[in-house]
Amino acid sequence: MSYNNIVTHYEGHAFIITINRENKLNALNYETLQEIKDVILSVQENNSVRGIILTGAGTKAFAAGADISEFAEFDTIQGTKLSAEGHEVMNTIEQSTIPVIAAVNGFSLGGGCELAMACHIRIASENAKFGQPEVNLGIPPGYAGTQRLVQLIGKGKALEMLLSAEIINAQQALSYGMVSKVVPIEQLHKTCMELVNLYASKSPSAIAMIIRCVNSHFESTNPGFEKEISEFGRAFGTKDFKEGTSAFIEKRKPNY
Ligand code: COA
Repeated sequence: MSYNNIVTHYEGHAFIITINRENKLNALNYETLQEIKDVILSVQENNSVRGIILTGAGTKAFAAGADISEFAEFDTIQGTKLSAEGHEVMNTIEQSTIPVIAAVNGFSLGGGCELAMACHIRIASENAKFGQPEVNLGIPPGYAGTQRLVQLIGKGKALEMLLSAEIINAQQALSYGMVSKVVPIEQLHKTCMELVNLYASKSPSAIAMIIRCVNSHFESTNPGFEKEISEFGRAFGTKDFKEGTSAFIEKRKPNY
């Protein structure tokens, strides 16, 4: 299968997905997200794949967020749909019964941070940076960042990051428990491959069961995911959203 925004290849037991929009810092437009979802689903049936590595092209960004230029003119209905579809992509990754490792090789912001958080494991390069800067755009995160950030680092730290748009470095992310390991960028791929090889030595059926059990703990009746979708959509009807996205496109600070 060929894709417009990602490149994929097999390496030993690993299936590697690289977001390939380097000149846009691998920003996640609609098509990119759908391609990631499709390829993750299609690889599930391949028994020789024992780990999926998701990364970004180049050395500057894993993904610098959802593609702001694509949604700047959206209304509430389109915003709600965008969020619901983004949630579906993130859920597909989380529900993969082959472990998905985010090899975070630079900026992992907004939708990029949400993408990394939907993966089962995150390994960061020393230059990686994490944040949910949506508040600068007049919107909340829309791809389940308000939920998975709380799951990963707890309510206090999550609110600190979400309300301030603070961008944290790899060592801070490690100390918050957002990532499992920080390595020099030259060792990022090798470190992720070692993990895939480790998983390849384990029982794939037990791995699948573990993933389903862990996911199940967070599914229950949590209304937060649906709440985020509706609040994200609602934000698209505000003047703050118009100001935030215009400011980004015009390369200036927003005036709230
Ligand atoms: N959506 C769309 N385009 C994006 C983008 C995004 N989330 N992030 C970066 N880009 C584009 C820039 O518009 C620029 O395109 P151009 O060369 O056509 O002008 C290109 O990628 C390079 O980005 P630039 O901002 O010039 O790089 P920088 O090194 O000065 O800054 C960041 C890097 C990550 C700090 C900055 O790009 C940024 O703040 N991005 C948006 C982050 C964000 O708010 N994400 C949440 C979105 S939901």
